[in-house]
Amino acid sequence: MLQVFIIGGGLAGLASARVLREYHAVTVLERSPGGHEQAAAIQLAPGAVKVVQQLGLDKRRAGSLTGAYWRTLSRQGDILKEADMSAVSRKAGADWYWQHRADLWDELLRLATAPSQELGIQGEPAKIIWGAKVEGVDVDQGIVRLADGEELQGDLIIGADGIKSMVRPLVVGEDSFQFARPSGLSAFRFTLPAAAVTEAVGEWPVLNRKEPATGDIHLAQDDSRRCVVFYPCRNFEILNAVCIAPDSALRVETTESWSSNCSREDLLHAFADYGSQCRTIFQMADNIKLWQLRDQDPLPTYIRGRTVLIGDAAHAMTPHQGQGGTQSIEDAEGFRLFTLADIDRSSVPAVLQDFDRVRRVRASRIQNSTKESHDRRTPEDIFRNVVYSWTYPGIEECLARLDAGKEMIEVS
Ligand SMILES: Cc1cc2nc3c(=O)[nH]c(=O)nc-3n(C[C@H](O)[C@H](O)[C@H](O)COP(=O)(O)OP(=O)(O)OC[C@H]3O[C@@H](n4cnc5c(N)ncnc54)[C@H](O)[C@@H]3O)c2cc1C
Ligand SMILES: *[C@@H]1O[C@H](CO)[C@@H](O)[C@H](O)[C@H]1NC(C)=O
Ligand SMILES: *[C@@H]1O[C@H](CO)[C@@H](O)[C@H](O)[C@H]1NC(C)=O
Repeated sequence: MLQVFIIGGGLAGLASARVLREYHAVTVLERSPGGHEQAAAIQLAPGAVKVVQQLGLDKRRAGSLTGAYWRTLSRQGDILKEADMSAVSRKAGADWYWQHRADLWDELLRLATAPSQELGIQGEPAKIIWGAKVEGVDVDQGIVRLADGEELQGDLIIGADGIKSMVRPLVVGEDSFQFARPSGLSAFRFTLPAAAVTEAVGEWPVLNRKEPATGDIHLAQDDSRRCVVFYPCRNFEILNAVCIAPDSALRVETTESWSSNCSREDLLHAFADYGSQCRTIFQMADNIKLWQLRDQDPLPTYIRGRTVLIGDAAHAMTPHQGQGGTQSIEDAEGFRLFTLADIDRSSVPAVLQDFDRVRRVRASRIQNSTKESHDRRTPEDIFRNVVYSWTYPGIEECLARLDAGKEMIEVS
């Protein structure tokens, strides 16, 4: 049995804790005092949904909706394309799930820490230490140093500490490629109670409370790279909105903080040429957050010694393809490699090589295609990469295919 320390209790860290707790002694070290997820929704592609279903995610508790219809509209609200994604989902082996991030986080926390008997699994629950800020890691020896000076000795160290990761430079080296840069785009994010929106806009497929659910994306169809995305979450109680605009179109300064406030007027200003369908909803928006979207070049490695990077620490990307959380969950599935054969402290670095062989290639390709999608103007641009990013047979199958000299992921 390994002593595993996971640095960061976000979606990536908690999902990994759930995978590893069945076989190993897992401790999650989380800087925040607890219960801290940001209030907005997140989509999980079928490759990740397959994983969370196997890990015991309760769809009702997570408030997840199965989505299928993705409508592309103009600024004014004319429908350019209505895509039914259910065939692609079916082929990928699971549904497409839309949920509130806080609900998903709560459910992953339960799966990481609930008594094994309740979950019907073996092993011990993962331990979470809240308010534990990690300040140093010896990546080869597996020693983690906390802000209060305490040192912990582990066999496997997982850096799941998000886009501003302190573990990343220790794994990759201090060169400039390690830092996420402003992408030139920012995202306004807000949620509204679905009932109030329905009252204001009337009948709207996005809030019609029927599964599979419908989401809308309004493309600017010009050089501005703007888009407005609406989809429901939390069992249709909440409407989620993401509005992406170039920094040059903002009248406020965008900052690195993911929780900086801005006003309704700032939002209306950036989308002044959008039609009444969008603007009626903007007029209702409250508690709007403005997030600077950052680009991260693919890293040359995710591993060093007995330490591995996952989630946004490994492959931060903008939300254009809804793949950040999905890739984090796929990373967690990769720790199945530590549940297969006899593993001890000495074999950790070799198993991590296999993890890196699959996960880095996969997530890097998705980072690259996410960056390309910043310029999307047409419905075709939106769906260009869906088949690849939704298809993931799991780490063991990927390794088997690589060892047989085949493509890791077969896209037909
Ligand atoms: C606007 C927006 C929309 C998005 N929409 C989607 C979507 O639809 N679908 C999708 O798949 N993805 C989406 N994403 C991306 C997704 O949110 C992230 O990829 C995902 O949350 C990454 O999880 P993580 O656990 O790696 O990082 P985080 O959630 O950032 O968690 C990192 C954790 O580490 C902790 N930590 C940091 N430093 C330390 C330290 N030194 N010691 C201890 N703890 C530490 C932090 O407190 C935090 O809890 C979106 C992102 C944005 C910005
Ligand atoms: C943003 O607004 C919320 C709610 O009004 C408030 O609690 C929070 O402190 C504000 N955050 C910042 C960074 O000003
Ligand atoms: C991602 O893009 C970079 C820069 O264009 C390229 O060097 C790299 O090979 C790409 N990686 C993958 C996995 O496609």
